[in-house]
Amino acid sequence: MEQFLDNKVAVVTGGTRGIGRAIAEALAGCGASVAICGRSEAAVAKAAGELGPKVVGRAADVSNPEEVRALFEFVEERLGGLDILVNNAGVGSFASVAETSLESWQRTIGTNLNGVFYCSREALARFRKRGGGFIVNISSLAARNPFAGGAAYNASKFGLNGFSEAMMLDHRYENVRVSTIMPGSVNTEFGSQGAADWKVAPQDIAEIVLGVLRMPERTLISRVEVRPTKPHK
Ligand SMILES: NC(=O)c1ccc[n+]([C@@H]2O[C@H](COP(=O)([O-])OP(=O)(O)OC[C@H]3O[C@@H](n4cnc5c(N)ncnc54)[C@H](OP(=O)(O)O)[C@@H]3O)[C@@H](O)[C@H]2O)c1
Repeated sequence: MEQFLDNKVAVVTGGTRGIGRAIAEALAGCGASVAICGRSEAAVAKAAGELGPKVVGRAADVSNPEEVRALFEFVEERLGGLDILVNNAGVGSFASVAETSLESWQRTIGTNLNGVFYCSREALARFRKRGGGFIVNISSLAARNPFAGGAAYNASKFGLNGFSEAMMLDHRYENVRVSTIMPGSVNTEFGSQGAADWKVAPQDIAEIVLGVLRMPERTLISRVEVRPTKPHK
């Protein structure tokens, strides 16, 4: 694979499985040093081991600002700076508003929205030292299509899109490019439908991330929508 990310350092949140793992693998395959996180220490150690010498891991819950700070300090210490943040960690809880528990609401917003803010803030402070950087946010088509049972998830992803695009406008003149990727169904264990071959493959999302990062400095892919060609009827 073309080594266009040699000497770059990337963080991929939620890199232990699914889309995040495919992105971490693709970035490392193009030469980047990559740090992944997830809440389970065992899963982080296992995934980092399987992904090879370019990938390190540390357990961190992105909804906890202290754990996020410790993650970025670890990355700085181990990999010496930061060029790319992929905010991928996300959870889905699907129920009507009346049936949504406080815990489920807080976990969804805490991970999918607050977590992106906590990680982006840490990354932006480090990008300043490098003269720029990239933030790629994994949002969802649920960021523009409300559906019954999706109130918490829709709110988190609608919020993420607004946050992401405002952040793009805030920091573009500092050589920081922010992209929002909005997948439809992707073939992972996420959600209630489970895995299926008709869905977009996680590797296809990783390919989009590489495409975003490959753009010349003058060009910013700010938003991408992607969906299965033939969704299950
Ligand atoms: N799959 C889809 O159809 C689809 C479609 C559109 C958008 N997305 C978005 O794509 C992203 C990844 O989804 P996926 O399908 O790959 O899900 P997944 O297979 O369930 O993987 C989620 C990853 O995030 C980690 N994670 C969850 N909560 C976390 C937290 N609080 N702190 C740190 N890590 C956390 C998980 O590890 P632990 O559980 O061990 O923490 C895991 O590594 C999410 O943002 C999701 O909303 C998915």
